[in-house]
Amino acid sequence: MLSVALIGAGRIGQIHARNIAFHPDSQLTFVADINADAAKALAEKYNAQVAEVDAVLANPQVDVVVIASATNTHADLTEIACRNGKAVFCEKPIDLSIERVRQCVSVVNEHKGTMMVGFNRRFDPNFAHLKRCLEAGEIGELELLTIHSRDPGAPPAEYLKVSGGMFRDMTIHDFDMALFLLGEEPVSVFAHAASLVDPAIKAVGDIDTAVVTLQCASGKMAVITNSRRAAYGYDQRVEAHGSKGMLNVNNILESSLVKSTAEGVVSQKPQHFFLERYAESYVAEWAHFMDALSKQEAPKPTAEDGQRALVLAEAALKSLQTGQPVAPAWA
Ligand SMILES: NC(=O)c1ccc[n+]([C@@H]2O[C@H](COP(=O)([O-])OP(=O)(O)OC[C@H]3O[C@@H](n4cnc5c(N)ncnc54)[C@H](O)[C@@H]3O)[C@@H](O)[C@H]2O)c1
Repeated sequence: MLSVALIGAGRIGQIHARNIAFHPDSQLTFVADINADAAKALAEKYNAQVAEVDAVLANPQVDVVVIASATNTHADLTEIACRNGKAVFCEKPIDLSIERVRQCVSVVNEHKGTMMVGFNRRFDPNFAHLKRCLEAGEIGELELLTIHSRDPGAPPAEYLKVSGGMFRDMTIHDFDMALFLLGEEPVSVFAHAASLVDPAIKAVGDIDTAVVTLQCASGKMAVITNSRRAAYGYDQRVEAHGSKGMLNVNNILESSLVKSTAEGVVSQKPQHFFLERYAESYVAEWAHFMDALSKQEAPKPTAEDGQRALVLAEAALKSLQTGQPVAPAWA
């Protein structure tokens, strides 16, 4: 049984706490958060103890540290945890600065640390199935990947100010999904974007609507479409087009009910947001981490995967600023 300390008792921390507590190989022993009430409420729920961040990082009884606190804490906490010999599960993104991410990844590697980054969508059963079909050659050679990723609504302006912008905060999941499914690093990134959803987003200098095109050396392409608004709910679809056919993952609906009347045929809306849509993926991602640790294998997505997704985000930003396609700075 591995002893797990959770840092961050917010939205995603609460999801991880539950999955840690219910997994047979992990025990949630400590919860740390600068918000003492949040830490206490979560610790009590799962029979864990409240502790200070520094104390859990230094505690020799802690095997694993889960970092689910605010993004600007991830790199520092990862480095300390690795130096102290803990296995780290860190939420995305590792940091908003690519230089800081590179530094953190090298510290992890220097200490031969174990680090998994929370790109949970790889563990969604539907996207994982699509990946297996691709690998089995069921649609021949992949030629064109299309990822539609639209949130039901924009986050508050206060969050947007510190989010690092849509590409680093939101599209980062889609960049990881593109890398995962393409199986090849793109050599060119071209981004178009606008602020169409909310004047508050424009006011903080961010974008809310984007199309990003990625092209690989083989010619394989991926198109990502993003919006901070979808009137019908959380829109998460993937299409893979290949030489022998096409694979599609559609939205998961709130229920399978279809109402047919004289007025028409109406199905239900997509599941509201990530907590519902990706609930299974968070369970599966934790199970993968536990499985990898028990087999002493490197869990995936790795620290380098965390870096690669941010490299694409940086290239997309540069493309937006210059109006030109940009070669991602992989090295
Ligand atoms: N993989 C996913 O699907 C997913 C979903 C949501 C959020 N995230 C990521 O998880 C992180 C947290 O997001 P959230 O939505 O849960 O945010 P949140 O604001 O709900 O929770 C963050 C928590 O961290 C605590 N915190 C902040 N600084 C801290 C510090 N120095 N030490 C200890 N605790 C600290 C806050 O008090 C808060 O309780 C972000 O990096 C976000 O990008 C990932």
